[in-house]
Order: sequence, then structure tokens, then C-alpha cells
Amino acid sequence: MFENIKAAPADPILGLGEAFKAETRSPKVNLGIGVYKDAQGNTPIMKAVKEAESRLLAQESTKNYLGIDGVQEFNALTQELLFGADSEIIAQKRAKTVQSLGGTGALRIAAEFIKRQTKAQNVWISAPTWPNHNAIFNAVGMTIRDYRWYDAEKKALDWDNLIADLSNASEGDVVLLHGCCHNPTGIDPTPEQWQALADLSVKNGWLPLFDFAYQGLGNGLDEDAVGLRTFAKCHKELLVSSSYSKNFGLYNERVGAFTLVAENAEVAAVALTQVKTIIRTIYSNPASHGAATVATVLSDAKLRAEWDAELTEMRNRIKQMRGKFVELLKEFGAQQNFNFITEQNGMFSFSGLTAEQVDRLKDEFAIYAVRSGRINVAGITEDNIRYLCESIVKVL
Ligand code: LMR
Repeated sequence: MFENIKAAPADPILGLGEAFKAETRSPKVNLGIGVYKDAQGNTPIMKAVKEAESRLLAQESTKNYLGIDGVQEFNALTQELLFGADSEIIAQKRAKTVQSLGGTGALRIAAEFIKRQTKAQNVWISAPTWPNHNAIFNAVGMTIRDYRWYDAEKKALDWDNLIADLSNASEGDVVLLHGCCHNPTGIDPTPEQWQALADLSVKNGWLPLFDFAYQGLGNGLDEDAVGLRTFAKCHKELLVSSSYSKNFGLYNERVGAFTLVAENAEVAAVALTQVKTIIRTIYSNPASHGAATVATVLSDAKLRAEWDAELTEMRNRIKQMRGKFVELLKEFGAQQNFNFITEQNGMFSFSGLTAEQVDRLKDEFAIYAVRSGRINVAGITEDNIRYLCESIVKVL
């Protein structure tokens, strides 16, 4: 029965990680997958996380199942991070949150929910985007429509074409937006542009879905939520997928959340029952450890302050590496102007490197990046930056 199965292509991002592991040359540099590295090139466990974990280990008294929606306290704290602790949406109980298996798990719950419980056929996705967005919505049989995001010449947001494309989104269409730190471009709308998008969305009746995987890695926890909160103020309904992989460094614990905002508490409560049905038929209920860790940190003033400080340090290191990267490219003789890299937000930079140049970096210098030209700036360290910039200039 299985002999006719054709091999699937390697994942464009996770496949790179596997290839990098098997790489025997030295030096080698991995700027593929979006994982934070500190100045020493390690992906450490955050101190606040470690402390929360040891508290949990000491206090945990049962391994009984969680409810289908996961750790309740985690869900409530997630809403506060998203909308702000004083949000009316929270006070009015219009939001329902369920714990998910990372941001991808939340997106898949969102896609299943949209497919089964709404009339939406189309999902509008930025071009370019994180490749798994297309795969997830294809998997539930939705029609994917692209909207332009990136002006390759100006290395900036392609605002006019973005608006032109999204003007074709009809009432009830889903519009997927990256909450901050757009993946792969690192280019986000300004607060005024978010407001214009939110106005258009209300006017045209879209169902916004925010993919919010990098809160705190752009400009700050509240600053990064500007887009989502602008939409939340004027929309009756919206959906959010959040991830704690990056801002808590909890990659392999798979901690995320799916949040649904409805017009009122009653509608939200009914919709939640359908979300739970979806979860029950996929994985029944989630694992506790990662979400309990996040809840322990966020509910304790001292741990929360420690986490915030560590996150700030991560964000600042990435910004510093952006500046140094641009400076060194110049120093090694790059003719192009790479200053745009310092304007981008979050872990990623859309470097402008072509697929051929990325291939050459891998083949000739053991430097791994995504073929779209996306590089993970968080993977740049003092140790690899000179080798990296020198090699890049050689392939330009
Ligand atoms: C990335 O874009 O590198 C991350 O979101 C990791 C992933 O799952 O692709």
C-alpha cells in the first residue's frame, strides 16, 4: 500500500536545521530557523523560566489531565499580554483563549475553526510570508489570496499595493496579519498604517486573524501589540494565534494560545465549545509544563520583571547586531546600501540576497539561510559576524 508514496520536499525552514546539523565543515553558521542565540551562540533557558520550573517541580502534586483548553491561569494571562490588563474586551468576557501546541498549533486550530464554523472561503496572506501559513490553510481547503507586502526596490512596506490588493478582500474573508516583526521581512506598519488597515477592515467586513509570534522582540511588549490593539478597539470579532517559543525561549515545550474575540460574552462562550471540539479530536488536551511555567512567571511580580529584563536584553542584542552587520558589510566592501536592515523589527531581516546567493553561501561557506533571502539576525554573534560579512560580500 505504501510503495507508491512519493517523498515530500524538505521543509524550507526546519529542513535547513537538519542539513545544518549534518554539516561537517567549520566554521559553519546557521541563520535559518528563527531561534534566539546569545552573544556566545547558545540558546539558553531564561533565568525566570528556570526559576519557575524549579518552583513547579517542588510544588506539583498531580499529573492529572488538564481541561481541553489547558491551563486556565495561562489563558487569562495571555489575554492580558495581548490586549492589556485593563482591556474592555477582557472585562466584558468577549475573549476566550485556549492553550495550544505553539503558534503553529494555534494557527491550525484557527484554520479548522474558520473552516468548520464560518462561511469564509478565502484567506488573504501577505506575500511574502512564513511558508507554513500557506500550508496550514491549504490543509483545511481554504483558498489562499496574496496581498503584496514588500517593495523589493525600496526595501520597505509596499503600502499602496498592499491597500490595492486588500481592497479586493470581500466581506467575511479572513485577512491574516503578522502582529509584529513580520516574518520574513521584519517590516511592520506604522501605528497610523495599522489604524488605516483597521478602518478598511471594519468597512469591508473582514475577519482579521493575527499571527502574534514575536511579542516583545520588536520594540517592547506593549509597543509590539499596537496593531492588534488598534484592531481590537474597533472589531466585534477577531482571532489571534500567539506563541511563547521566542519571547520565553520555550521552543521545545510547544507553548502557544488561540484566542477568539466575539461580539459579546454569550457568543464567545458558545464559539469556545466548538473550539474545544476541534482540540478534542486532534490531541484531546494539551501538556501542562510549558504553559504552567509561563503562568508562574507572568503571575509573580519578581519573575515577571526578571523575564521582561531578559527579553529586553535579547531585543537589544538583536538591534546591536543589525547595526554591526551593516557596518561590517560596508567595511568588507559591499557596494549596496544595507542601512535598511537597521530599520527592520524582530529576529528576521529580509537581506535582499537572491536564492542563488544564498545557495552559494551554503555551498562555498557553510552559511545557512532561507532561500527567500531571510536571515535570522538573532543567530549572528561576535564570533561569526566577521566571517559572515566577508562571505556575503564575496557572493554579492
Ligand atoms: C521560523 O520562521 O523560523 C520559525 O517560526 C520557526 C518555524 O517553525 O518555522
